[in-house]
Amino acid sequence: MVDEFRIENAKISDHSAIVVLLRNTKLPPDGIEVHMENFLIIRHPEAAVGSEFLVGSVGLEIYGKSALLRSLAVHPDFQGKGLGTRLVNRITETAKTKGISRLFLLTDTAEDYFKKKGFVIVPRDQVPEDMKKSIEFTTLCTSSPSMMREI
Ligand SMILES: CC(C)(COP(=O)(O)OP(=O)(O)OC[C@H]1O[C@@H](n2cnc3c(N)ncnc32)[C@H](O)[C@@H]1OP(=O)(O)O)[C@@H](O)C(=O)NCCC(=O)NCCS
Repeated sequence: MVDEFRIENAKISDHSAIVVLLRNTKLPPDGIEVHMENFLIIRHPEAAVGSEFLVGSVGLEIYGKSALLRSLAVHPDFQGKGLGTRLVNRITETAKTKGISRLFLLTDTAEDYFKKKGFVIVPRDQVPEDMKKSIEFTTLCTSSPSMMREI
């Protein structure tokens, strides 16, 4: 069944559907609109073309050779089927092709999930200065642990 779920590049027109998915999974959608070209999504295989229903999303904010992985979300009805893992693997491959060598993220909901995927907690002073100015660091997740993985 999971094979039916195809990962694809998001389009600008997917913005509102991603916002709905992020709200459904209690993640902040703020600021994603300027990074849409670096977002991946999974549509429901039975959704009509143009449907708002998304099963999954993940995105990158790129800062030089580092990137902030954000907005990893799988719709509650489809969690536990390996889709989150597929999204993390695919966005990691995408990052490598863009010359990224270090992935960072902020989370207070899925620390153990990302530890299993090789991320470690790092002090904020290891985060690149330009990334620290992002909305996630300055406004949305000011007290969340930062995690990093070399790729
Ligand atoms: C985190 C999330 C993306 C995982 O997606 P998923 O498709 O369910 O994940 P997978 O199927 O690849 O992996 C499932 C495994 O991860 C574990 N897992 C899922 N969410 C977890 C979490 N928040 N913390 C720790 N482990 C978690 C499951 O228990 C399961 O473990 P098992 O394989 O030992 O049974 C999904 O639960 C989600 O959207 N959560 C809400 C949003 C969120 O917290 N996003 C991350 C912040 S950026």
